[in-house]
Amino acid sequence: MSVTVRVPAKVNVQLAVGGARADGFHDLANVFLAVSLYDEVTVSPASSLTITCSGPDAAQVPLDRTNLAARAAELLAARHGQSPDVHIHIAKDIPVAGGMAGGSADGAGALLACDVLWGLGSSRSELLSICAELGSDVPFSLVGGAALGTGRGEMLTELEVGGDFHWVFAVADGGLSTPAVYGEFDRLNEGVAVPAPVASPALLDALRTGDATALAGALVNDLQPAALSLRPSLSATLEAGMAAGALASLVSGSGPTTAFLTKDEESARSVAEALLGSGTCRAARVASSPAGGATVVARA
Ligand code: C5P
Repeated sequence: MSVTVRVPAKVNVQLAVGGARADGFHDLANVFLAVSLYDEVTVSPASSLTITCSGPDAAQVPLDRTNLAARAAELLAARHGQSPDVHIHIAKDIPVAGGMAGGSADGAGALLACDVLWGLGSSRSELLSICAELGSDVPFSLVGGAALGTGRGEMLTELEVGGDFHWVFAVADGGLSTPAVYGEFDRLNEGVAVPAPVASPALLDALRTGDATALAGALVNDLQPAALSLRPSLSATLEAGMAAGALASLVSGSGPTTAFLTKDEESARSVAEALLGSGTCRAARVASSPAGGATVVARA
């Protein structure tokens, strides 16, 4: 018997970051948008907890208990007084350590898949509370669509999206560590009174009306200067995408993936081709949004 769950990647169309909190996290106004790049997580009974991963970047994925998919199975099993004896296979298509919540997606996917495999029937709110324990971005991976994340990003308010948006994601060589990027944000803002993060009304309006040009004018990522400081070569990628006709560009989350909003699917394809030809990225992926959250796609 096995259960397969499909989970989307995300881009942050607004990532407003406040000052560092006493617990080391940062308060956020984090507008998540799920995009159509997916990992598939399959779980099946086994004699102990094991993980395998397939896909072009599988070698970069940790296969030990630090993998959020393993931690999800452990947390859910512990809540129900059982052992997490399950084999987890991750078919990985989301860039690894790329600022697109790939690890969070696998956590949310494994959680839902184990819940179904073990016949637990957990409520949405029980699953969301385990997601929040796993990481700040994990609740959104379960929910998908679009949402405003406050607190450290884990408290979600779902948002209406009035149309499809088209994107290109330029995948960089190597990943960036999220804590390192937040650390660089703190270093760059030393001595600065960082304002409390607030969601932009213009951006929420652009999402609601499905207006790509308005969304392009409202995209903002407060972590971008920190990501560029740690990886200056990303500036050339951002410039290449704009020169190729993107409406707007930004670093995705903590990077180093860069995101380009385009006016339609055809434009996305031509921007992707130009980005690849520019030699400023390792791969260029076309995707659209919004995408649905974690979904069971197969039971065998
Ligand atoms: O919640 P998650 O485990 O994904 O966070 C990874 C790291 O990113 C945290 O340890 C922290 O350094 C940083 N972070 C933060 N503020 C947030 C979310 C993450 O400083 N709101």
